[in-house]
Amino acid sequence: MSASDSSTLLDVVAIDGPAGAGKSTIAKAVAFRLGWAHLDTGSMYRAVTLWFLDQDVALGDARAIDEALGRIHLRCGGSGRVWLDDAEVTEHLRAARVEALVSEVAAIPSVRRSMRDLQRAQAEHGPLVVEGRDMTSVVFPDARWKFYVDASARERARRRRGDIELQRGSDADLPSLDDVQRDLEERDRLDSTRADSPLRRVDAATYLDTTGVGIDEAVAWIVDLVEEDLTRDPEEGTE
Ligand code: DC
Repeated sequence: MSASDSSTLLDVVAIDGPAGAGKSTIAKAVAFRLGWAHLDTGSMYRAVTLWFLDQDVALGDARAIDEALGRIHLRCGGSGRVWLDDAEVTEHLRAARVEALVSEVAAIPSVRRSMRDLQRAQAEHGPLVVEGRDMTSVVFPDARWKFYVDASARERARRRRGDIELQRGSDADLPSLDDVQRDLEERDRLDSTRADSPLRRVDAATYLDTTGVGIDEAVAWIVDLVEEDLTRDPEEGTE
């Protein structure tokens, strides 16, 4: 992970981890502090899921999937904002119907191939903070900084329930903490047991457990590390 490993490493901070571990919050804040672009790859899989739902694509029909992937115009902005065919769909990405299907869509190899190409293309435009499930293992094994962000299942469920409350309002009929935790654990099981690019912790990734730790601390730690590496090795840095 040191800056002096190789000049072929990309100026990419790659973050993986299970649902609700704090990846998005950390990635967003790190990107902001460094002045780098941020890419939330979970949003990309959610957008494809929304597209398939709206186009009535049967997930068992490989030809229909390829055809739909050929027609999709997906554009990502910072902070997880996504556009499909120039219409912003960000606020629809966490709808229950998307939540229910996204792990299944994310397990389809042709979908992954197509997202992988878009993700790698993004890193060609400049330094990037990217988060997902296979960033450190498959998409950016040549990232200069790699992290695996984790937290206990209970803590992750608490955070995810907080997000749902923020989106739906505290008066809404919110799921119980137990239900949210069960859904998260099922999502993790699907994401880490699929054949193509499962969630896994690579040796080169620094493990960060955010249970009971302020996210700010994790952000400051990552930013310090990146800045230190860039200062130590300025010819490889980004100006
Ligand atoms: O991080 P998230 O909850 O928004 O991710 C949504 C889904 O997409 C989740 O099932 C994991 C999957 N995903 C993936 O398979 N690979 C990624 N790089 C990012 C997300």
